[in-house]
Amino acid sequence: MNESSSRSLSRRLVLSRSAAVIGASSAGLLLPQIVRAQSNKIRVGFMLPYTGTFAQLGVAIENGVRMAIAEKGGKLGGREIEWFKVDDESEPSKGVENASKLVQRDKVDVLIGTVHSGVQMGIHKVARDSGVLNIIPNAGVLAATRALCAPNVFRTSFTNSQPTLALGKPMMDKGLKRAVWISWKYAAGDDALEGFKESYTKAGGTIIKELSLPFPNVEFQALLTEIASLKPDAVACFFAGAGAAKFMKDYAAAGLKDKIPLYGSGFLTEGVLEAAGQAAEGVYSTLHYADSLDTPRNKQFRTAYASQFKMQPDVYSVQGYDSGQLLVQGLTAVNGDLSKKAALYKAMETTVIDSPRGKWTMSKAHNPVQDIYLRVVEKGDNKVLGIAAKALADPGAGCKMG
Ligand code: PHB
Repeated sequence: MNESSSRSLSRRLVLSRSAAVIGASSAGLLLPQIVRAQSNKIRVGFMLPYTGTFAQLGVAIENGVRMAIAEKGGKLGGREIEWFKVDDESEPSKGVENASKLVQRDKVDVLIGTVHSGVQMGIHKVARDSGVLNIIPNAGVLAATRALCAPNVFRTSFTNSQPTLALGKPMMDKGLKRAVWISWKYAAGDDALEGFKESYTKAGGTIIKELSLPFPNVEFQALLTEIASLKPDAVACFFAGAGAAKFMKDYAAAGLKDKIPLYGSGFLTEGVLEAAGQAAEGVYSTLHYADSLDTPRNKQFRTAYASQFKMQPDVYSVQGYDSGQLLVQGLTAVNGDLSKKAALYKAMETTVIDSPRGKWTMSKAHNPVQDIYLRVVEKGDNKVLGIAAKALADPGAGCKMG
């Protein structure tokens, strides 16, 4: 053995001995650590919009999460909960910083967030880097459950193209062959357009113009004038929250409502029917939920939510509620021990969520496989016309776990 190989052998021995020592000491610590973890509160952080155009969506999600967990005794896997909150303001440039506040400063075990797809990408980076469990209760950015999918990231809502993948056919069934698309110019609008393009053109329709304005602008006037001059058979769109109510009102005020039927990814009419009033009547949309779903599960949920929070639930409340249900089921399976990652993720992957929207399962890429409903606003309610797509899964293209 020459000098260098004997040196490298002794170095290997030292390394393997120290590894053994570390192994022994951590084995010795294992029991007290787990005992401490079990008796400690589980730290759950909300990163949601509490101000701005999506503020009411954040509140609905938080309500839903709390309601689902309270229904099961208010604990997760037997552990009490300590809650943390950060207002993400739907501001993508602060996404990483805000997620880091919860993960690094508050040391949350679970991060529930968020609504806005651009902000989600910040959370996603922090979740992937830290390994912290992230439940996405809304933001539908495709990448999170496609090429950038991750074992510790689960979505309980949708991909932005899921609702619009079901939108094209009902429009063509009504003979609406030439449509204008309009949305905010950011990931969610682009993703929703991807689904619409696929379903509408496959059914034989033509998108004659794609219009957009920056998020969260609500100066729609110039674009509505352009729509009037284009004279399409229909308009299809993606808007949500306060901006959606404003869009429907401006559409009606511009005199378009009775001339050009308005269709949308169903967020258009969620949580805003009171604010939009008459302007929302007759608007068609596709979504994985409808207030008026006539099932005992939905009725029971709606009654309980309304009496608890003194407001009507919407799709965001349902997504929050299902996030809570998913956490309850996952953490029950591991008795609140988040270090049992494989068992935790397995339980979350294989669960069937008994949702007010109808039962749904998790796709391999961790996104709901769910029915999409066709709805129309009638007398201030999203009335269900039927199932536009049964058990629709996002393709999850490019997702490789591990
Ligand atoms: C998104 O940014 O992904 C988003 C925001 C609001 C919605 C739906 C999707 O209602």
